[in-house]
Amino acid sequence: MALIDVVNLSKAFGPKVVLSNVNLQVQEGESLVVLGGSGTGKTVLLRNIMGLLTPDSGHVAIEGKIIAQLKREELFEVRQSIGMCFQMAALFDSMTVFENVAFALRRHTKMTNGEVTARVEECLSMVGMKGTDKLKPAELSGGMKRRVGFARAIALKPKILLFDEPTTGLDPVMTDVIGRVILDLKHELGVTTITITHDLKSAFEIADRIALLFRGECIACEPPAAFKVNPHPVIQQFLRGDADGPFLQDPPPPKRKTQEAHS
Ligand SMILES: Nc1ncnc2c1ncn2[C@@H]1O[C@H](COP(=O)(O)OP(=O)(O)OP(=O)(O)O)[C@@H](O)[C@H]1O
Ligand SMILES: [Mg+2]
Repeated sequence: MALIDVVNLSKAFGPKVVLSNVNLQVQEGESLVVLGGSGTGKTVLLRNIMGLLTPDSGHVAIEGKIIAQLKREELFEVRQSIGMCFQMAALFDSMTVFENVAFALRRHTKMTNGEVTARVEECLSMVGMKGTDKLKPAELSGGMKRRVGFARAIALKPKILLFDEPTTGLDPVMTDVIGRVILDLKHELGVTTITITHDLKSAFEIADRIALLFRGECIACEPPAAFKVNPHPVIQQFLRGDADGPFLQDPPPPKRKTQEAHS
């Protein structure tokens, strides 16, 4: 059984169809990278997995439990096994780094102060941010904020880590650093990860499989080597980063009844 099972997932906002019959299976310990242009529904996909949005049809199951059917308490329990790294680090600005990472531990566990301190230190050192505990987010660079966001996400020892564009806006070196942190977390913690990224270099480094969302559909989901040579014109254009091709073309117009000409 897949740890994360996305089955025929569809989601629209009003007339705007964002996800249309998306199927994705992620096995335990696997690292899936999801690529796709801006606005193709990558964040919406993660929000459905977290149970922050409800599918219009289809479902998301985690360890066989269908997220949208869970009672409140059951949903909270499943959510505690998921660490989410939001698109922007989304730290609490008024709190120190320490307090940010300790937040979930204080809220969801009965750890003593000593245990909380030890776990926070452990998480900060895993992401290379040891010694920054007294700083406020405003004193950190973008890459440092992301890493504190990771430390916060792993504090509760989640089985699943979801990363929403962890490297957007970072320089190439920091992008590589973040990619390595994700790989280290995967290897050290054995977590199952879904990473959304626009950065192809880190995608190919991190991924066991790569999926591409295009116009609401998942048009491929396969190991990096197969993805690289997939002849699908959208995939090849995405890999080339070229403006010419089907990627930017308008989608075919929806089928309509014959329209009357304006008089
Ligand atoms: N709560 C919402 N209500 C209405 N529309 C929404 C909502 N959430 C997302 N959308 C729409 O769904 C579409 C997909 O959004 P989403 O944030 O998933 O894109 P994305 O693939 O993550 O893009 P990016 O790469 O820019 O982050 C967008 O057109 C967005 O406006
Ligand atoms: Mg997004």
